[in-house]
Amino acid sequence: TPAPRHFRIGFSQCGDADHWRKSMLAEMQRELSFHPGMELIYKQADDNSDVQVKQVKELLAEGIDLLIISPNEASPLTPVVEEVYNKGIPVIVVDRKIASTKYTNYIGADNYEIGKIAGEYVAGLLKGKGNVIEVVGLPASSPAIERRRGFQDGLSRYPGVQILAQVHGDWVKQKSEAALNKISASLPLADLIFAHNDVMALGAREACLKAGVQHTRIIGVDALSGKGGGLEMVSGGLLTASLLYPTGGTEAIRNALHILQHQSLPKETFLQTLVVDSTNVRMMALQSDKILNQQKDIELQQQMLAEQKRVYNSQRTMLYILGIT
Ligand code: FRU
Repeated sequence: TPAPRHFRIGFSQCGDADHWRKSMLAEMQRELSFHPGMELIYKQADDNSDVQVKQVKELLAEGIDLLIISPNEASPLTPVVEEVYNKGIPVIVVDRKIASTKYTNYIGADNYEIGKIAGEYVAGLLKGKGNVIEVVGLPASSPAIERRRGFQDGLSRYPGVQILAQVHGDWVKQKSEAALNKISASLPLADLIFAHNDVMALGAREACLKAGVQHTRIIGVDALSGKGGGLEMVSGGLLTASLLYPTGGTEAIRNALHILQHQSLPKETFLQTLVVDSTNVRMMALQSDKILNQQKDIELQQQMLAEQKRVYNSQRTMLYILGIT
């Protein structure tokens, strides 16, 4: 039988300063450890679209069998992704979209739906009446566009709920905080702040604290498990709720393997979302702790296997030196 083929997968990540992106990569690496024939070539662009375009070109030049990309902004990254795709190299787009259908597979939760569910949830919390501030993600990135549109549509049946202000936080905590500090006079008027992710929600909380505003409820998106993640912020009462936004790291590697083995795959891989608040956060945290522990077990087993392999190989070498084999 021919030796299994070795595949080179290029992964172009828009940035990796936050916990969510780190956790996407960790998921990918864990899944990759089950597939020793797959090699990941990783580049991250520090949230800069020009840098990311350059890095995709570098990946192309280095030679890859498949590209996984989470594009910083849709339009600037579209031509280079199309270039890759037109060369016959399969492309998996994760989380953020490009402005074209020239990709093989898209993986992500429905960001329009996330915004819409958030809008309806907020209207329910405020009993159909109140003022809201929205902290928007990077304006040219697809999740910001879709969450914003969804949120507006979710609120549309509730004329008593007003969007008092929209500020740009560009997905970054400090930027969210700074943007809200600038409109600190409006903060006391807000009953609720909806931030497009949890780190910006945390920034919003700090801006409120600074302005001496305590009554404002804050909602985010991501609901990451682990230390400092959204689940912890909800259970600790820092946030009223967060909408789950899975990273898709595991699915990206699984789908890559499918594509490289010429198995058919639907164009879109939908990930699930749900509202995490005080009613279900405990269950969510228990479940994710359990998964984390299982993952630790798997990693331990893999280390033990590697160690056994090492011992086995050195014993074989020894027998060979002694002339026994
Ligand atoms: C991480 C992040 C998430 C957000 C997603 C949107 O970099 O900002 O918090 O849900 O990207 O693309």
